[in-house]
Amino acid sequence: MMGTLDFLYPSSSFITTMSMINILGLSFFGFLEIMGINLQYSKLWNPNSKRIKVSSRTGMLLLYTPAFLVGFASFWVFPEKGFRPLLVTAALTIHFFKRVLEVLFVHKYSGGMVLDSIILISLGYSTSTATMIHAQHIAQGFMEPAIDLKCTGILLFSVGICGNFYHHYLLSKLRGKGEKGYKIPKGGLFHQVTCPHYLFEILEFVGVFFISQTLYSLSFTISTTLYLIGRSYATRKWYISKFENFPRETKALIPYIF
Ligand SMILES: NC(=O)c1ccc[n+]([C@@H]2O[C@H](COP(=O)([O-])OP(=O)(O)OC[C@H]3O[C@@H](n4cnc5c(N)ncnc54)[C@H](OP(=O)(O)O)[C@@H]3O)[C@@H](O)[C@H]2O)c1
Repeated sequence: MMGTLDFLYPSSSFITTMSMINILGLSFFGFLEIMGINLQYSKLWNPNSKRIKVSSRTGMLLLYTPAFLVGFASFWVFPEKGFRPLLVTAALTIHFFKRVLEVLFVHKYSGGMVLDSIILISLGYSTSTATMIHAQHIAQGFMEPAIDLKCTGILLFSVGICGNFYHHYLLSKLRGKGEKGYKIPKGGLFHQVTCPHYLFEILEFVGVFFISQTLYSLSFTISTTLYLIGRSYATRKWYISKFENFPRETKALIPYIF
């Protein structure tokens, strides 16, 4: 075990290695998104691809359900949890459960996903969820960090999850029953950025990091941010290429900045 910064629990070499892999992996995929090599789902998928495809709804359920089950099962796998590990497990389980519910009852999908993207992302989500909970379990053996960020974390997580849901709801309202086309999104922060739902997702994971204060949750938040920077950049580029009247002043992810 090695010592670390005041706002983090100490980390093991396993958790440090997983943190590095996480940041390197997702920043690589974020970079690929910027280069135009996109994970194959939603508006950035290529329907003519020869790879194995499934419908978006099935694909998305395959992405989120294993991570939700990992979170849910952890309540029994680590029954002797303290308050902070309980909060982290609850936040992750709620996050993925909300996703599953949105896939079933909110989103209106138009296309499909390729199986290799699904396997990659699903493994990434479930492994990260398990590692984040495991890291929290290990941290229980150490002194609390000098600064306690739990309460701020709960607030950020709550704002993030609500903002993320609200923008998903606005996206779902763009399509009537059976409609499959794309429109320029309106309402909420859509006039500022093309991907406000990504921005609120980042806020959610900053919240999870503040609740958990482990190196792994910090790395997960950084790597999620790096990937979503790439994906939002590619999404804005897509809107500009498809809609002549797309407002150029609309940024990708962060109002007025990026
Ligand atoms: N943690 C991570 O690394 C990570 C990575 C990616 C996404 N996410 C999160 O997952 C959530 C969903 O992300 P996503 O990339 O799937 O979002 P998305 O591409 O914006 O799609 C969300 C839903 O809105 C529909 N939609 C999007 N733009 C539309 C438009 N202009 N007109 C009509 N319908 C539209 C999509 O339909 P179609 O499917 O037909 O396009 C889909 O049903 C987000 O909250 C995001 O933060 C997390």
